[in-house]
Amino acid sequence: MKKYSVLLILGIASLFLTYCSSSKRAARRAPKTTYVTDLSTVIATNCTPCHIPSKGGNKKPYNNYANAKADIDEMIRRIELNPTDKGFMPFKKTEKLSADVVAVFKKWKADGLLENR
Ligand code: HEC
Repeated sequence: MKKYSVLLILGIASLFLTYCSSSKRAARRAPKTTYVTDLSTVIATNCTPCHIPSKGGNKKPYNNYANAKADIDEMIRRIELNPTDKGFMPFKKTEKLSADVVAVFKKWKADGLLENR
């Protein structure tokens, strides 16, 4: 687990360096949003614990690619509702997700619902 965290940090650091040291290269290869690199983190942060079985959630699991892919339209619909609307997600929260977070869901769809790069 520790080893994994170190690798993750190194990975993030190297991505950061790669994309920031050469903005030209970054512009040419603008990374596509994928489930593994982007959406899974956003879901783990914002849709927990209810949609994450390992956290005790008993709603439809979205910590797997197939379910997220199948339900993306319904996810986007619900996170764009107002908190007082029926069906709003994240359930019972009084504020909508930030525009940046909503944008990750939308870009994932626009980029073709990829699992990985
Ligand atoms: C506090 C618990 C909770 C959180 C956090 C939460 N949900 Fe839900 N979610 C529910 C419950 C309860 C239902 C079932 C009731 C309903 O359909 O409105 C549900 C249902 C759904 C459904 C419909 C699933 C189906 O079977 O058709 C979608 C899509 C959904 N949630 C998306 C999300 C997304 C995306 C997030 C994170 C941004 C999120 N939810 C966060 C509790 C939660």
